[in-house]
Amino acid sequence: MAEPAHASSLFRQVSDGRLPGRVVVVGGAGFIGSHVVDRLAGEGCAVLVIDDLSHPCGVDPVPAVALLEDSGGSAAARREIASFGAQALIHLAAKGGVSRALRDPAGHVAAVLAESVGCFAAAQAAGCESIVIASSGGAVYGDAAVLPVSESRRPAPRSAYGAEKLCEEVYLATIARLGVRTLALRYGNVYGPRQDGTGEAGVVAITATRLLAGRPALIYGDGLQTRDFVYVEDVAEATVAALRTRRTGPVNVGTGTETSVRDIVAGLVELTGTGAGFESLPARAGEVRRAALDASRAHRWLGWRAQTSLMDGLARTAEFFAARAPSLASTSSPGVT
Ligand SMILES: NC(=O)c1ccc[n+]([C@@H]2O[C@H](COP(=O)([O-])OP(=O)(O)OC[C@H]3O[C@@H](n4cnc5c(N)ncnc54)[C@H](O)[C@@H]3O)[C@@H](O)[C@H]2O)c1
Repeated sequence: MAEPAHASSLFRQVSDGRLPGRVVVVGGAGFIGSHVVDRLAGEGCAVLVIDDLSHPCGVDPVPAVALLEDSGGSAAARREIASFGAQALIHLAAKGGVSRALRDPAGHVAAVLAESVGCFAAAQAAGCESIVIASSGGAVYGDAAVLPVSESRRPAPRSAYGAEKLCEEVYLATIARLGVRTLALRYGNVYGPRQDGTGEAGVVAITATRLLAGRPALIYGDGLQTRDFVYVEDVAEATVAALRTRRTGPVNVGTGTETSVRDIVAGLVELTGTGAGFESLPARAGEVRRAALDASRAHRWLGWRAQTSLMDGLARTAEFFAARAPSLASTSSPGVT
């Protein structure tokens, strides 16, 4: 998508704050986190990654970045956040997506919510000026009647994953009332290089991985369910921009466009040049039917708009997975979805 002529001047108006010099990224070894860390390091920020390495993306962090291998809610993390002199904290840690939370909702809440809340409290106690968290635009709104959905729509999650994300947002608001700037970034369906293509979340990465290994793509339900697919480097840019704003509240990070799973699969079949086709499976519980996010608040508050067209993003993603294809082909197993 071409950048409108007025975008950079709007960015200067709304991004009146400078980037904080010292930033903690919890979950910084993961898919989205690693792109955010690269971007912060490129901007000259001192970065501390706190990650328990339960699901790293496999890319080495830039050498200047410090790493604490521990959980974000641990006592060690609390001490490090304070001694690092963190001015801002970005929380991108999670344990899986909709399917995993659905299998064990209580376990999901125990493993994720308490850790996240502990981490937010540690950031506030250490004197952080701002906290930015990863929420989910695809999950917190539920099935919205009007698309693209804006932040004014009352959240109505229909999955344990979405409910947990909303709980994080509610807790975060209590910290905002203590004077900390807090933003909950409601991401769309993030895709791009470094995503795990062997798990059960991330249709682009999973489909690319399967097709390049000569296996059919998997389509759950009729494949006409839609998502707002947003490229990871655009998401990293929005996440860093969130550190500059003086605003507090939820912000959608998406393209505003619905794309069906079938169209994603067709695009990847074309890009990878494979003839593996697809296999149909029953629809999965807890999934919303349609999703698209109105990102006009992100434009007003952060000066941000998605810049990468779907076909460009899919092409870059397919290229990344193709470069890794020999090792993927030897590690994929029939049970992987
Ligand atoms: N990928 C998407 O499409 C998407 C969409 C909406 C929201 N989100 C959210 O964005 C965030 C990042 O997602 P991702 O796709 O990069 O996931 P990811 O699994 O690739 O990365 C998560 C990182 O957090 C780490 N981690 C897990 N639990 C931790 C803990 N308790 N303490 C410290 N580190 C921990 C993992 O090792 C991993 O490095 C998550 O909160 C996710 O729910 C992702």
